[in-house]
Amino acid sequence: MPRGRREDATGSSISTRKLFADHVNSLLDGGQHEVTRDHDRIHRLLGYASIAVTGPGRATVRSTTDGGNLLVGRRAETGRLDRLLADARSGTSTAVVVRGDAGVGKTALLDYVLGHAAGCRVVRSSGVESEMELPFAGLHQLCAPFLDHLEHLPGPQREALATAFGLRPGAPPDRFLVGLAVLNLLAEVAEAQPLICLVDDGQWLDRASAQVLGFVARRLAAESVVMLFAMREPGDTSDFAGLPELTVGPLEEPDARTVLVSAIPGRIDA
Ligand SMILES: Nc1ncnc2c1ncn2[C@@H]1O[C@H](COP(=O)(O)OP(=O)(O)O)[C@@H](O)[C@H]1O
Ligand SMILES: [Mg+2]
Repeated sequence: MPRGRREDATGSSISTRKLFADHVNSLLDGGQHEVTRDHDRIHRLLGYASIAVTGPGRATVRSTTDGGNLLVGRRAETGRLDRLLADARSGTSTAVVVRGDAGVGKTALLDYVLGHAAGCRVVRSSGVESEMELPFAGLHQLCAPFLDHLEHLPGPQREALATAFGLRPGAPPDRFLVGLAVLNLLAEVAEAQPLICLVDDGQWLDRASAQVLGFVARRLAAESVVMLFAMREPGDTSDFAGLPELTVGPLEEPDARTVLVSAIPGRIDA
């Protein structure tokens, strides 16, 4: 039987994705919104898959071929991230630097936030190693969806940001003005609904973007904005100095074992 299918009680081949979706939706329908608590069972059931809770009683399911794993363990980390989301929903802003070695699970934690941000607007960007020499490239990636708000900014800030993004000619803009412009831009967007900014691979942000984002993150107050910066260790995090940190260490046993076992191909149909 092909991977991704299994037999039901009558011997018919059914999609494991459907099985998983039914399972998760039954948990949600039963009022158990914290479906991640059921990791172990889901892993035993299907190997691995990722879920995004899209609203009460609904879950979107992606198989690993779509790019994500179900988060195993990480109770302390997800608890802290849940609190950040709750704070954003009640009007408090926070910025956190998520630090850890390559492969330890930083992106997986950002994925978790994405999957638990119902009611929030989420914007995701990532540092790109080949763009490190391009000033404001990373900032552009983060702000591009909001450029229609540019016209509401005070003149000097609007001009500075527009120049940074090549929307108007001019000398390299004052980074202080660019920082204020981004702060106001994000605050305005967050007026409609809480705004969650997920910046992955912060170690590869161009310097201008890192400076501006660090400046903005340190000035967040009551705008309903959450900024998370995933940064590989070891690395220079000086542009994000003064921000709270979430250090991601290796998974504990038996969570590490669960992830390892789930990564063995063929397990689903065994
Ligand atoms: N807690 C976890 N549960 C399940 N899979 C995980 C967990 N943490 C990491 N992974 C998986 O391990 C791999 C590496 O994690 P990733 O988040 O990409 O690391 P990083 O971003 O720190 O380099 C990914 O395939 C990810 O889905
Ligand atoms: Mg990563």
